[in-house]
Amino acid sequence: MSKTIIVSNRLPLQIKLENDNSLKITPSVGGLATGMKSVHAEGNGIWVGWSGLTEEETDSFTKKKVNEAVKKEKCVAVSLNEQDVENFYFGFSNKTLWPLFHYFMEYTEFEKDQWESYQEVNQKFADVVLEHIEDGDNVWVHDYQLLLLPKLIKDKKPNTTIGFFLHIPYPSYEIFRTFPWREQLLEGMLGADLLGFHTYDYERHFLSSVKRILRLDVKFNKINYHDRVVTVDSFPMGIDYNKFHDAALTHTNQNPKEKSELQRRLDNHIQSTSNAKMVLSIDRLDYTKGIPNRLRAFEYFLNKYPQFKEKVRLIMLAVPSRSNVPQYQKLKRDTDELVGRINGEFATVSWTPIWYFYRSMPFENLIDLYTSSDIALITPVRDGMNLVAKEYVATRTNEDGVLILSEMAGASKEMNEALLINPNNFEEIADTLKQAIEMPTEEQSKRMKILQKRLKRYTVEKWADEFMKSLNATKIKDTVMVST
Ligand code: ADP
Ligand code: F6P
Repeated sequence: MSKTIIVSNRLPLQIKLENDNSLKITPSVGGLATGMKSVHAEGNGIWVGWSGLTEEETDSFTKKKVNEAVKKEKCVAVSLNEQDVENFYFGFSNKTLWPLFHYFMEYTEFEKDQWESYQEVNQKFADVVLEHIEDGDNVWVHDYQLLLLPKLIKDKKPNTTIGFFLHIPYPSYEIFRTFPWREQLLEGMLGADLLGFHTYDYERHFLSSVKRILRLDVKFNKINYHDRVVTVDSFPMGIDYNKFHDAALTHTNQNPKEKSELQRRLDNHIQSTSNAKMVLSIDRLDYTKGIPNRLRAFEYFLNKYPQFKEKVRLIMLAVPSRSNVPQYQKLKRDTDELVGRINGEFATVSWTPIWYFYRSMPFENLIDLYTSSDIALITPVRDGMNLVAKEYVATRTNEDGVLILSEMAGASKEMNEALLINPNNFEEIADTLKQAIEMPTEEQSKRMKILQKRLKRYTVEKWADEFMKSLNATKIKDTVMVST
């Protein structure tokens, strides 16, 4: 029976070594892992990726334990050494491709050594995938860390059907053309039979790069490439709607004794501040997420509308991410400082304007936060999709709550009923926050109902299903060939 091999940089589980040499296994954070997890759980395929441990950390005994642990989850680990992690992961993936694709040109480094490591590590992934491919299998490669992988597999196994999905934005041609190894990267991606993006705009930008850099023949969304046709399409990623909605329902009917410590604190806050509004933001601590802008806009709001002092609180959960990269370290310092300054400036004996958590939280606590917040304030300066916006909507079981969302997030394309803002416009964010606080419940419900209906229909399962259907359709070659 043929299977689908999912490949991504990280596996859905991350392994760390404790002091006593035991393994600490935690779920991976981020849109890709949380989204694909439910798809993988149901299929008969395998998931190939990095476990989070380096070769230097693992002796043969630990390696065996790691392999057993990942096998239980239908996963296969790719082994990376410290140099790989430094140059491929922290280096080329997160100091070159990530900032470039998010329009942060000033953060983008073009280092030949790191590019070489990127090529080598993509080859390591290819070797593991090739070991596991059988005739008739599909391979579904994910994200910017593995842009060369489709070609590496196609060259060795031309009959394998390969899909690729990019979870981050694809930048405009004017940005992409600055990249020194642009031809190789595009050729790497074109090893796939189907290339998927979150939005039509990203798809359009990609096609434009292919036309202008490789001078290939592009007709509508098909590319004639050597003796093959590559299909390009947009597939906006959804969420596991029922998982979030049902967890929120269970949460609402929860016995008071079962409440988490965090929920008790949130309840106390609601009681002690006579129902002050709670505004929530959740992101990885990443410069693309617009965290300093959000904080400055909140400060601007408190100055412009002082009547809301003590009547509103921002709860900000920032999950540690890529903390070896200097820009992330700077962002951490800037965020700490801004939170400190705003709290210092506005706090009263009974009120702190910002509650800031810098940590990862278990799923139950995410649900505590989503369900207790009147408003979600999600303001990335650039974001491929943003699943947090969708998760917030899914947990609003009473059809109340307001979503304020940046128009720079891919999710904004499908969430017109949210209050859409430009994350660089503090005036607009402050006014929209006021609008959200004062929004009548009938209007909240009108907007929420439409948002929920759409999310319920286009879930992550449906997203994966549509992608796989399109991938299988590429096998019927006669119907997709375009004339030259
Ligand atoms: P990105 O992929 O850039 O991190 P997304 O908003 O698309 O951004 O996805 C973030 C995902 O990570 C969401 O599914 C969210 O539930 C999950 N997540 C965010 N914060 C935490 C946390 N503290 N603990 C566990 N999962 C988290
Ligand atoms: O969704 C974008 C993404 O980079 C994913 O590829 C990744 O799983 C997630 O964000 C978290 O990033 P990292 O794997 O670098 O911690």
